[in-house]
Amino acid sequence: MDMMTSASLTMMISIGHRTGLFDTFAGNPPLTSEQLAEKAGLNERYVREWLGAMTTGRIVEYDREAKTYRLPEAHAALLTRAATPDNIAATMQWFAVLGQVEDRIVDCFHNGGGVHYSHFSRFHEVMAEESAQTVVAALHGHILPLVPDLEDRLREGIDVMDVGCGAGRAINLLAETFPNSRFVGVDFSEEAIGMARDLSQERGVTNTEFIVRDAAQLNETDRFDLITAFDAIHDQIAPAAVLAAINQALRPDGVFLMQDIAASTHLHDNLERPLAPFLYTISCMHCMTVSLANDGAGLGTCWGEELAQEMLREAGFSEVALHRLDHDIMNTYYVARHG
Ligand SMILES: C[S@@+](CC[C@H](N)C(=O)[O-])C[C@H]1O[C@@H](n2cnc3c(N)ncnc32)[C@H](O)[C@@H]1O
Repeated sequence: MDMMTSASLTMMISIGHRTGLFDTFAGNPPLTSEQLAEKAGLNERYVREWLGAMTTGRIVEYDREAKTYRLPEAHAALLTRAATPDNIAATMQWFAVLGQVEDRIVDCFHNGGGVHYSHFSRFHEVMAEESAQTVVAALHGHILPLVPDLEDRLREGIDVMDVGCGAGRAINLLAETFPNSRFVGVDFSEEAIGMARDLSQERGVTNTEFIVRDAAQLNETDRFDLITAFDAIHDQIAPAAVLAAINQALRPDGVFLMQDIAASTHLHDNLERPLAPFLYTISCMHCMTVSLANDGAGLGTCWGEELAQEMLREAGFSEVALHRLDHDIMNTYYVARHG
């Protein structure tokens, strides 16, 4: 019963996020469904049904006499765009994104193979919102300081590449903040690279270059001082080749900063991991299957810290340090030195 309630609420919270209902609702005095629908520019009958789910799910408060609804401030603090990086409503979008490919995944259970990236509608949009919270918002305060002197070097001017850059929010922010450095974003999705280029243009950023390319074939040697990969190694078709290509692309004192899922390689060690069922689910319905769709390694989301370290060493990196950051319970941060 609890699972059905939670699953239902994830769908309705996702809709509340996409329609802007939470953003419109926040900070208002109690509103009728008509008032809320009018403010949000939405159909009242749908808004009223959504409010039914939100009220019985104890997310919204209801005054039965006045027939008004209120979004408590403490709930708005976790559900609105203004609450970023704490907006969990954005994360709830994953369940609907995954639901779209269920038929194809069921087919894979029977016949093997995988589901290509191109079958996931809104993937790059939702991923960009997710990483705006875990990566972009934390770059300066938390992630960059993991590498000693990195911010000074970025200020002076270095060459940086982001592998699997997606919609490019992280690299665009870095490029804006460090105008003396040069930034290259690589992704095999034309859609994602298009979004990243548009963002550079929108912000007037000129020290970025975006390339549609398979990360296993970077074909660069001794060219970058820093290479980053945010949540972009475990779903690769050929992860070992990608890691080797990254090592080859680094200069002798170069650093690879990799954010990837915090899990163990061993299932029994993930029993107590928060969100582990979510990690295995998103793996089965996205990360593993997009790799298998191309006869890839299909590492899966929970390839784990043990295997990640082994593969980094096999790719030639000389030193690998692991870090956990308080703001991000889902990821481990690896700092690997060129070897
Ligand atoms: C989980 S997303 C992360 C995107 C981005 N780094 C972020 O944090 O928002 C993984 C990204 O890797 C890209 N990708 C997957 N396999 C790739 C490959 N073989 N070559 C280049 N990019 C790839 C996908 O298109 C996707 O944008």
